[in-house]
Amino acid sequence: MLQYIAMKRIAIFASGAGSNAQKIIQYFTHHSSISVVLIVCNKPGAGVTGIAQQYEIPVLIIEKEKFFSGDHYLKELHHHIIDFLVLAGFLWKIPVPIIEAFPQKILNIHPALLPKYGGKGMYGNNVHEAVIKAGETRTGISIHVVDEIYDNGKTIFSATCDVLPEDTTETLAARIHFLEHKYYPEVIKEYITNYAG
Ligand code: GRF
Repeated sequence: MLQYIAMKRIAIFASGAGSNAQKIIQYFTHHSSISVVLIVCNKPGAGVTGIAQQYEIPVLIIEKEKFFSGDHYLKELHHHIIDFLVLAGFLWKIPVPIIEAFPQKILNIHPALLPKYGGKGMYGNNVHEAVIKAGETRTGISIHVVDEIYDNGKTIFSATCDVLPEDTTETLAARIHFLEHKYYPEVIKEYITNYAG
């Protein structure tokens, strides 16, 4: 008997270079049941918009006021029949109506081992700078479910790496990006595949 498998549709929220978005798009390009169908970005001209173009994925450019008005962009997400949101370098806090519309269906990646070095203002090189300054010898990545509080939802995966005495924020960022690219797509796949709603 033929069985119909409904595609799970991902929107990636990203506003930076988009290297994680690219790895995720590539990973799911020929996947049988998961597909990246939309890039949501708050910075026109960000690297991720070029990547979306390259893979012919539509980009939704969002505006701050409308985004924080609550449910303005929900209509757009429903229009694209989105099932899961994946944040990959997206810095705005997700408004409650969107979190409620996608219960346990929003994932984020953080470039440190939460709960340390998380929260507002802890992004990009600020995180690596703080880790180096604190004299940590290990750091890593955390993949977590998004709730109403910055970097607070349940961590579903983490991986670690060394912090070397000679590290700069750039060398540490490169080591972290390596881990992110290696693990984020697969963790997303596992999470969506096993999501029990
Ligand atoms: C990543 O380091 C991620 O952990 C953080 O933002 C960065 C995005 O990098 N949330 P890129 O745009 O995917 O290259």
